[in-house]
Amino acid sequence: MNPWLISISIAYLLGSIPFGYLLVRIFRKEDIRTTGSGNIGATNVARSGAKGLGIATLLLDLGKAYVAVKIAQHIAPGNWDLATMAAVAAILGHIFPIWLGFRGGKGVASALGVFLALSPMTALCILVIFLAVVRLTRIVSLASIVAAAAIPLLMLHFAHNMSRIVLFGFIFIPLLVIVKHHANIARLLAGTESRFGSKKTNEN
Ligand code: G3P
Repeated sequence: MNPWLISISIAYLLGSIPFGYLLVRIFRKEDIRTTGSGNIGATNVARSGAKGLGIATLLLDLGKAYVAVKIAQHIAPGNWDLATMAAVAAILGHIFPIWLGFRGGKGVASALGVFLALSPMTALCILVIFLAVVRLTRIVSLASIVAAAAIPLLMLHFAHNMSRIVLFGFIFIPLLVIVKHHANIARLLAGTESRFGSKKTNEN
């Protein structure tokens, strides 16, 4: 079977698993999409009062994306273009999951997962930037946006292969993450975005 087809299909399907939605549905019998920001990501799961489930969502969303890229790297060792497209597919799966009518999360934890597999130093820098902004502002969405915006710059230092496909992946993924934060950006500009630790009832 074609390694591109199989890697990208597996990555999309793995990325599509809506762990935040499933964990809250199973353990709290609630629909996370109807509380807080409505997002299915770790931040909103933690915000809903389920801190443990929030941490589990973070690890599972990160892990599924990491595994998706690792599988591609296993199927075609050394093929950075294929690994990058698997990363893109995993993020598309998370943001547009087939199981939730193509309405998924914002791709932050999953982006960290794919970059951890593609370029661990890039992932480490993203994490440091993210944590620094969270510590300074307690606004997770702002930290996510700033960390995502730094990815194309970090790539210049850490990417192993600068083919056009790798370049595309390192620009497309953060761009998609930032675009998915459009409602957060509107709230940030209006000064109404919630800080971590406070509840919010805004729409996604
Ligand atoms: O994980 C996404 C984060 O950046 C923002 O989440 O729930 O505040 O929209 P949320």
